[in-house]
Amino acid sequence: MGGAEILKPALAEIAADIDRAFDLLLPVPDDGRARLYEAMRHAAIGGGKRLRPLLVLASSQLFNVSRACALRVGTAIECIHVYSLIHDDMPCMDDDDMRRGKPTVHKAFDEATAVLAGDSLHALAFEILADEATHPDPFVRSELISELARASGPAGMAGGQMMDLMASEAAFDLHAVSRLQQLKTGALISFCMEAGAILGRVPPDGRNGLRGYARDIGLAFQIADDVLDAEGDAEVAGKALQKDADAGKATFLSLLGIDRAKTQMHLLVDQAIAHLHGFGAEADLLRAIARYTVERDR
Ligand code: IPE
Ligand code: IPE
Ligand code: MG
Ligand code: MG
Ligand code: MG
Repeated sequence: MGGAEILKPALAEIAADIDRAFDLLLPVPDDGRARLYEAMRHAAIGGGKRLRPLLVLASSQLFNVSRACALRVGTAIECIHVYSLIHDDMPCMDDDDMRRGKPTVHKAFDEATAVLAGDSLHALAFEILADEATHPDPFVRSELISELARASGPAGMAGGQMMDLMASEAAFDLHAVSRLQQLKTGALISFCMEAGAILGRVPPDGRNGLRGYARDIGLAFQIADDVLDAEGDAEVAGKALQKDADAGKATFLSLLGIDRAKTQMHLLVDQAIAHLHGFGAEADLLRAIARYTVERDR
């Protein structure tokens, strides 16, 4: 089957599944917390490509993991991703008004609610992973929890966000920008691939191909985000663009120029796909996702 034929239905299906999962997880209580739940629902339901949950599903299906287990882990990583977006959009960070075609949480609600909605989604991710329904083996759950914690914290996404905030002032070279992107975006994407292997009880030395794939698409994905920031359509993207150049941010684009940055991201996709050489047709969804990370328009 061709890439597009696999990818389109897979994206539609995961979007519906993740919306349903959040709808069930976040019923609005009839008390003073209602506003917090409304804000979490506003951010988590309806919108986003759901790329990370799809990656969990795609890596899980290499190892015959049940869709239900993979979906729970996909929901957990999406919790972390959505929390990171809520905080990323706040005035103290990127100060954005639109996200996924809707007002950002601090705009639709207020800043304090946005902080708490982010905090609560962060906590919810680990609550989901710790639940027996995610996997019957407590060692598997514990590995998922520690890997997601590492990927989210100062050695992962939060650390990358810190470096990103410095990227307007400090003189970052290519090496520093690669490291920044690896942490800010790459760590959570790598978790998605690792999760399939953890759920499938693949020992660490059997995960090298998946780790190489994750590293390459993570970087390609963030270069594509930066390219979209420079040349995309804000209406389609559902968020304000032209932010990086205005902020004077060091990115692959500012360092390489747009043509070389695009060449680099396409090379990374080819390299990511080459890492899957040990797999057959069962990895076709991962191959299609790799191409999608750079061919997307939002
Ligand atoms: C945007 O992520 C933020 C980055 C890490 C570059 P996505 O492009 O995956 O955003 P959604 O989930 O589709 O909204
Ligand atoms: C955000 O990166 C990355 C995280 C939230 C971890 P950006 O600031 O480039 O993402 P957008 O462009 O606002 O989606
Ligand atoms: Mg940012
Ligand atoms: Mg931003
Ligand atoms: Mg961006």
